[in-house]
Amino acid sequence: MRILTVFGTRPEAIKLAPVVLALARQPHISSTICSTGQHGAMLDQVLDVFDLKPGCNFGLMTSNQTLSDLTTAILKTMSPLLMREKPDWVIVQGDTTTAFATALAAFYQHIPVAHVEAGLRTGNRLSPFPEEVNRKLISQIATLHFTPTQWAADNLRNEGVADAEIIITGNTVIDALHIVSTRINADTALHGKLADEFNFLDPTKKLILVTGHRRENLDGGLGNMCEALLSLAKRGDVEIVYPVHLNPAVQNTVMQRLADQPAIHLIKPLAYVPFLYLMQKCSFIITDSGGIQEEAPAFGKPTLVTRDTTERPEAIDAGTAILVGRSSLALTHAATQLLDDEAVYTRMAVAKNPFGDGNAAERIVAALLGWQNEVRR
Ligand code: UD1
Ligand code: UDP
Repeated sequence: MRILTVFGTRPEAIKLAPVVLALARQPHISSTICSTGQHGAMLDQVLDVFDLKPGCNFGLMTSNQTLSDLTTAILKTMSPLLMREKPDWVIVQGDTTTAFATALAAFYQHIPVAHVEAGLRTGNRLSPFPEEVNRKLISQIATLHFTPTQWAADNLRNEGVADAEIIITGNTVIDALHIVSTRINADTALHGKLADEFNFLDPTKKLILVTGHRRENLDGGLGNMCEALLSLAKRGDVEIVYPVHLNPAVQNTVMQRLADQPAIHLIKPLAYVPFLYLMQKCSFIITDSGGIQEEAPAFGKPTLVTRDTTERPEAIDAGTAILVGRSSLALTHAATQLLDDEAVYTRMAVAKNPFGDGNAAERIVAALLGWQNEVRR
């Protein structure tokens, strides 16, 4: 069986790395990977961590790229590759432009698509934008839907996807997290190196880890989050670390509002190993990221989600995350409670794993092999 796995952004590569590693362990599968290069440096960081070597890299990223330019560029570059390679399956992950445009290109060539992290929904076409529509469109195209949870599987069933095409696997991000956490915990030299990298942090202060990059937050939500961070930094008992996404629109807002604040460390995007190290070390997390909402419960880190909607209600239900919305006041209030009310903090800081057990990639590979045997019979 010949499988082509395609990714283009940081989170897709993190979540597909365990799948690529599991495919490589199968003697009867010929597995290749292709990067659209939707991201540049942020993707390269992930390739290094998992030692992934794409057979091709289209290098499509341009500064401030528009959705339509990127979508058409991927369609144009992917189609000849698929025509030439004719894989038995194309694997895509999540809801990015890379995932959607690749699925569409595969459909045009009559190549079956396997969708990893299928079935996530907010029910709001504009939030997250354009991801909610991307993942719905991929669901229309895919032959196999690998869902992280029962809830995601139910979403697909309610939309009419056949039971036999839905496989609940857990989220592969938990596989990735296990691979890297095991590495950090087993390697004392690496642990020491990471401690050195962050020796600028004051151990007497509570650490808040922050990320923010969503398109629908660029029109105000991100600025409001910065206002809240400024007021939290003034308390004097916290330190904030914010690895700033390389999107120029994000960089401009964040640098303009938060530069030169002694309690706020604006740093470059971190490689996955140091990022997970900081997740383990921090008191709590403020984020609009999808992947971080899934990882944080595994570390027992309370998470304030700076969005109006989430397609990952499992962390909210588990009590480890709160959807605070996009107002500065609501975020400041929720963060202040976590800092000042030990009971609130303790209630949220419980290690849970609603998103998987670390064996999702193995289940995905087994399902692909099983599907092939079924078709042969
Ligand atoms: C994309 C995904 C989003 C995902 C996010 C992960 C879509 C529609 N959105 O959004 O779902 O949450 O990736 O981070 O696919 N840039 C760099 N270097 C990099 C990466 C980005 O300079 O390594 C800059 C470029 O100027 C680029 C811009 O960021 O044009 C935006 O990148 P893009 O991939 O279009 O959107 P994201 O906001 O990253
Ligand atoms: N991440 C990272 N370095 C950072 C910030 C995030 O490695 O500086 C990881 C994080 O642990 C998670 C993934 O990147 O696995 C999330 O990516 P992002 O927030 O860019 O995208 P989303 O998940 O929102 O699509």
